[in-house]
Amino acid sequence: MLGGYHIFTITHRDTALSRIQHYIVPAAGAELRQRLEFLKTDLALDELMYVATCNRVLYFFHSTQQVDDGFRQRFFHYINPDLDEASISAVHHLRGIEAIRHFFRVGASVESLVVGEREILRQLRQAYDQCNQWGLTGDALRLAMRFAVVAAKDVYARTRIGEKPVSVVSLAVQEMRKYQLPLDARVLMIGAGQTNALVAKFLRKYGYRNVTVCNRTYARAKALAELLGGRAISLAELPHYREGFDCMIVCTGATQPIMTPQLYAQLLRGERGQKLVVDLSIPHNVAEAVGRRPDVHWIEIERLRRRAAENLAFREREVAQAETLLEQYIEQFPTICRQREVERAMSRIPQEVHAVKEKALREVFRKEIESLDEEQRELIARMLDYMEKKCIGIPMRVAREALAYQSSE
Ligand SMILES: NC(=O)c1ccc[n+]([C@@H]2O[C@H](COP(=O)([O-])OP(=O)(O)OC[C@H]3O[C@@H](n4cnc5c(N)ncnc54)[C@H](OP(=O)(O)O)[C@@H]3O)[C@@H](O)[C@H]2O)c1
Repeated sequence: MLGGYHIFTITHRDTALSRIQHYIVPAAGAELRQRLEFLKTDLALDELMYVATCNRVLYFFHSTQQVDDGFRQRFFHYINPDLDEASISAVHHLRGIEAIRHFFRVGASVESLVVGEREILRQLRQAYDQCNQWGLTGDALRLAMRFAVVAAKDVYARTRIGEKPVSVVSLAVQEMRKYQLPLDARVLMIGAGQTNALVAKFLRKYGYRNVTVCNRTYARAKALAELLGGRAISLAELPHYREGFDCMIVCTGATQPIMTPQLYAQLLRGERGQKLVVDLSIPHNVAEAVGRRPDVHWIEIERLRRRAAENLAFREREVAQAETLLEQYIEQFPTICRQREVERAMSRIPQEVHAVKEKALREVFRKEIESLDEEQRELIARMLDYMEKKCIGIPMRVAREALAYQSSE
């Protein structure tokens, strides 16, 4: 069983992120299912699981046939006929315990672009559930998945690999929360691109309910405002905005400060008191003179980026401990596979023991049993039922003990 595990994978470490897409199955939903089913049937795989994220493509399969370079070429020609031989050779092939090691490491996020991101475990589980639902997986991948999840959870619980935010957005939101911005605070969000969309997700998660989104293109402001149950205005309307603000989050692709001292003063509408100003843009979109005002608590990207780098370094220091923990799970896996093989081989035992009992009752001792009275016959039937039940458990127990003895040697 262990020798039948294989992984074909290509990641951010092997190729430019933009090239990863060449290795994915270019389909979704029912079409993806059909293509994976064909792949499994045509290449006579026992089981198949497929995971595609923005920085990783991973085909995890189980097969008892020979998986050599020719097989890898056939596999990827099926995925993408335009892939040339060199691109296919860039794909890593891991087999047996190495495939298990890699799978466990991916689940525990030590192989991730940003180590410690638990999202990968959710993606693995989702991919597995999908492939399982489509009937592509079986016992072998179920076992590997089960132990990968247990190992990953242990790593997340017993190391600090997932602690300390490493994205500037989550760090910015963490600082906003430290500032104890009330949930009904007036938030003015300028820019409705990817970064602010991420900020908006956090705002929604934490329950900020008084948000105005302002964007150069009004439609994008409106879409983001809808997500937050807020209002939308266009950038052109901003100088006339009269609602005031407690917190301003600025993040656009503009290369000059949008938030000039004049515009800021206009937006204040004479209000006094401390304001929170977050600027996630590179270069800054909030003029330095605004950020340095004594009535402004300024959260700006350069400091957040330095913190993100420090936090990432902290997580990377936790990797060694995570690896030690993972190795303990990886070491156990061959025994788990052998146990499973024995269980599978022994799954016939109940049927066979039952057949022996039935034969004894109906053929071998039939005449003698017929000569007994009702009470005696019932006693014999009860005794044989008891024996049947007990006998089924014995070989399993003995085999388990033998395996445990072998692995402790
Ligand atoms: N993506 C990241 O991981 C990340 C992380 C930290 C910081 N940043 C910085 O965040 C900023 C925005 O990045 P993003 O990924 O959110 O970009 P994005 O998805 O491309 O969105 C850009 C946003 O900026 C607006 N915009 C672009 N040029 C503008 C201009 N000249 N005047 C006014 N608005 C303008 C766009 O408005 P329209 O809708 O009208 O086009 C849109 O709302 C950049 O400075 C980037 O360096 C990005």
